[in-house]
Amino acid sequence: MANLLVTGGVGFIGANFVHYWLRRHPDDAMVVLDALTYAGNLASLDPVRSNPGLSFVQGDIRTPHLAESLLRDRGITIVVHFAAESHVDRSIAGPDPFLETNVLGTHELLKAARQVWLEEGRGSSACRFHHISSDEVYGSLDLADPAFTEESPYRPSSPYAASKAASDHLVRAYQRTYGLPASITNCSNNYGPYQFPEKLIPLTIVRALEGQPIPLYGDGMQVRDWLYVEDHCQAIERVLAPEHTGQTYNVGGQTEQTNIDVVQLISRILDEAFESNPGLASRFPRSPAGRRGAASLITYVPDRAGHDRRYAMNTHKIEHEAGFSTAESFESGLQRTLNWYLEQEKWWRGVMDGRYREWMRNQYGNVVSF
Ligand code: NAD
Ligand code: TYD
Repeated sequence: MANLLVTGGVGFIGANFVHYWLRRHPDDAMVVLDALTYAGNLASLDPVRSNPGLSFVQGDIRTPHLAESLLRDRGITIVVHFAAESHVDRSIAGPDPFLETNVLGTHELLKAARQVWLEEGRGSSACRFHHISSDEVYGSLDLADPAFTEESPYRPSSPYAASKAASDHLVRAYQRTYGLPASITNCSNNYGPYQFPEKLIPLTIVRALEGQPIPLYGDGMQVRDWLYVEDHCQAIERVLAPEHTGQTYNVGGQTEQTNIDVVQLISRILDEAFESNPGLASRFPRSPAGRRGAASLITYVPDRAGHDRRYAMNTHKIEHEAGFSTAESFESGLQRTLNWYLEQEKWWRGVMDGRYREWMRNQYGNVVSF
């Protein structure tokens, strides 16, 4: 039985990981530590709230000694570190929180693990600090370039990517200098349930349902590799096996798509959903889906500053060393995602609505822990 500390466990990938892990490891205990920023929604844990092994602590990873106490008092053996400021556009508008949470916050966690596991000798061979990172640390590829490998040089473009690169370096420095048992996964763009509708895929879905313009940056020809979030969770689970301590793995879906293709595919799936289910037109009367077509909302807007042209991941290492393969194709993953957003209108309206904070306070109290 393992005792996990999951930081950022009510954000998009973190919440999906909590669901995935508790389903597959019902005997493990798990503490979720999350500051509940705009991107963290306690409602995302509702399906697993009654799980006796799960507890939640509202707290900031930057708080000195907070993680240290949790590691010591709860006998944590595995840290899975998702907590971060994660949106590139926000990092361009204001980089400070990105450096504070992603760099200094990660450092607080590393200090905690070093103190409790190594200095106090409470660690064991089962201990692991697993850091969740991004393909964006490697920078931008041209169309003809080979995909990023684990050996590709770090060339981050945005403040977000630079902050993730710095956190990766700190994790490796703690591993090499102090012998901290650590690992890193650098993953491509995730999509799926519980993603805040500021990222391309949920933003497109929600705007198409609301009949609002869908903004495409620049020429819409930037290329991203997309991975269904549950496949990412599977990859992390595999890397947590003891033999992968000390390793870095690239994770991706082998699904390179231009942004315009992504938005058009979502529009097509939505049109088909509206055509086969007339009830959707009455639920979403402003949506042109199934009539004029959701794609009619696509609007070209000025490009993002410093916009990376292409990301692509070589996932040979994780496939061969850890047996990773994706379960979901891009089309099937998008269909599942779309179904989820159609079913969970309350969730996405809630997280986008300023009144949500008030609702959450009523629902869960002011300082939250369970
Ligand atoms: P997210 O923005 O949806 O969630 C981040 C979570 O971290 C939120 O719950 C937020 O409340 C919490 N958080 C933020 N600052 C905190 C702090 N100081 N202390 C405690 N909690 C804090 O992010 P996500 O998309 O789920 O990404 C999770 C991790 O995966 C991040 O490290 C991100 O860099 C990485 N990643 C994301 C993607 C992607 O496509 N979303 C791809 C590769 C890697
Ligand atoms: P995003 O979901 O923000 O992820 P990332 O920047 O981490 O890759 O954006 C994915 C791609 O979609 C990226 O090339 C920027 C583009 N994009 C748009 O064209 N319009 C939008 O409104 C958003 C949010 C993103």
